[in-house]
Amino acid sequence: MAMVCLSDFEDYAKKYLPKIAWDFFAAGADDCSTRDENILAYKRIRFRPRMLRDVSRMDIRTKLLGTEISFPVGIAPTGFHQLAWPDGEKSTARAAKAMNTCYIASTYSTCTLEEISVAAPGGLRWFQLYIHRNRAVSQQLVQQAEALGFQGLVLTADLPYTGKRRDDVRNGFRLPPHMKLKNLEGAFEVCKMSLLDPSVTWNDIYWLRSLTHLPIIIKGILTKEDAELAVRHGVQGIIVSNHGGRQLDGGPATIDALVEVVEAVQDRVEVYLDGGIRKGSDVLKALALGAKCVFIGRPALWGLAYKGEEGLQDVLRILQDEFRLSMALAG
Ligand code: FNR
Repeated sequence: MAMVCLSDFEDYAKKYLPKIAWDFFAAGADDCSTRDENILAYKRIRFRPRMLRDVSRMDIRTKLLGTEISFPVGIAPTGFHQLAWPDGEKSTARAAKAMNTCYIASTYSTCTLEEISVAAPGGLRWFQLYIHRNRAVSQQLVQQAEALGFQGLVLTADLPYTGKRRDDVRNGFRLPPHMKLKNLEGAFEVCKMSLLDPSVTWNDIYWLRSLTHLPIIIKGILTKEDAELAVRHGVQGIIVSNHGGRQLDGGPATIDALVEVVEAVQDRVEVYLDGGIRKGSDVLKALALGAKCVFIGRPALWGLAYKGEEGLQDVLRILQDEFRLSMALAG
């Protein structure tokens, strides 16, 4: 099967993954209207292309908080990569490094942060944190990530509780017994997913600040009001995100929310976006509307499901080629 675009990887993953894993990756909250809107919204946005502008040479590199990446697409944090490929997050880290882009490793990884680091030394990685009721657990993870050379701390703000994903409920979704939430084992045994702290507020950014020198990026912002609060609380970056439509159903598509966030922020911090990126032209639309970089969630999992590290590199390469072509054709 020729893999030409990201939907080819989606079709492959749907066909070959166990149903319970496919359903978990695909799930949105409730009737998935926000998940689907993330994608539909791109189709309503049209370019005003300009002609005869010498596009024989193009530079698609960018910088994330000062660190150069090869093109403005990184890998969003998603849990449980071993459901897609046996080497799990180690493969993800290798693919991101090979493509010289940023990988945000999830708290809910099925490999330890150390295994991820060792798999791809020197790669650009940020660590995504869910704050747990047992704050010592979160503190230890943050400090471990910093010690291991992770270069950013991504606080996910949109999951005080897990959204209602109907297929996961129907399937009784849980990790197979041979897979573990490796970063929450051992010293962290006391901790379970249900111990996420729903009492987190903006003040906890100050607590995080006291734990680490890493730049803090807040993920899950959708309004100008929260963007302003994020800047005022001293974060270095904002990811406009609705968790791939897996949390509050009925919220806006991220590409639609981007504009008000960018306007509110006025270049004081970097603004990124995730949700619904499926083509190089989607990346260009997000950049044209003010995002510095975008991140992919599900497409990365489809790449892993196809051929592990190699499959994820294929996904990134296709997006890179499509993005370059869209830039050229848009002038
Ligand atoms: C996620 N997402 C997510 N976000 C996060 O901060 N921590 C996490 O552990 C996870 N886990 C997770 C698992 C799966 C299976 C999915 C699909 C998503 C949300 C993710 O970071 C991102 O916001 C969305 O996936 C972006 O939308 P697309 O690219 O999947 O459309």
